[in-house]
Amino acid sequence: MKKITVSAPGKLMLFGEHAVVYGRPCLVTAVNQRIRLTIEEIDSQDFLLDAPDVGIASYKKPLRKIGIGDMPKGVKFVEVAIKSVLSAVKKEMSHGIHITTSSEFSSQFGFGSSSAASVCAVVAMAELLNVNLSQKEIFDIAYQTVLDIQGKGSGYDVAAAVYGGTLYFVIGGEKIESLTISDIPLVVGYSGVKADTVTLINAAKERFKNTPEVLEKMYTEIGELVTEAKDALLKKDFPLLGILMNKNQLYLQQLGVSIPKLDAMIEAANSVDAYGAKLSGAGGGDCMIALVSEENKQAVEKAIEKVGGEILSVKTNAKGVAIEA
Ligand code: MEV
Repeated sequence: MKKITVSAPGKLMLFGEHAVVYGRPCLVTAVNQRIRLTIEEIDSQDFLLDAPDVGIASYKKPLRKIGIGDMPKGVKFVEVAIKSVLSAVKKEMSHGIHITTSSEFSSQFGFGSSSAASVCAVVAMAELLNVNLSQKEIFDIAYQTVLDIQGKGSGYDVAAAVYGGTLYFVIGGEKIESLTISDIPLVVGYSGVKADTVTLINAAKERFKNTPEVLEKMYTEIGELVTEAKDALLKKDFPLLGILMNKNQLYLQQLGVSIPKLDAMIEAANSVDAYGAKLSGAGGGDCMIALVSEENKQAVEKAIEKVGGEILSVKTNAKGVAIEA
């Protein structure tokens, strides 16, 4: 009986959230906190899942019903991914499977745990079936899984989980460019508030429903800023990168997706001379990031904690999905 373990990284959006959903580029980095998934063949013709981090214990259904009917939230991304691989590679399973997932980070942080779990499921299942998939094929299957479940999303989190590193990304994987850089000196602050991506995407649209051209213009300007940020990152021009982060944050505030807690954490970071700071991801909660120097890192962390943020110890530019055993 075969048993395979795969891991994939979480992500942090660096620049360009929201605008990326509408065709503009973004910058994303993979983080060193990972999701792990083990898949094991079993004798019975069942699909079993244990995902204790999202409250799933001993989930069971017949193999032939995989991906069909109602599924608990914590199950969906893995189950649908397995189904998607089977239909993509046109293979049937000869055995049932037992999947177990675990996470090095809370699903509350907005690090993209669902997307990373889907990517793990695709890679583990392909390995189980002895099928070779390219990175782009893994991306396509996992991204389609996320779209099937969520209806919306650029797929940048899926790309980070597959490719790792730091990416210049355009929706649907139209462009996935790996940037050759080293670790980015970021402080990551968690707001303690859980956000829902689709709600926030819709809220931004709703806010500008009478002036869609204003929204479009903003997205275009965010896209331009992302291109500038890419150059600054490649040149390690952190002072410029920080300025661009602050500019990006102003747009996010105008979009209405920042919240007072995030604003306070960002202001706190800037008050002790971070190069710049912004929210990361959909907004409405989750995390903020501040770009720092060695000298002011501690001061920035303290300032964020003082206004109620929780510092998460995270390294950027982590490796993409990998078979561990
Ligand atoms: C959410 O993490 C980032 C958004 O741009 C959505 C997406 O790109 O899928 C708001």
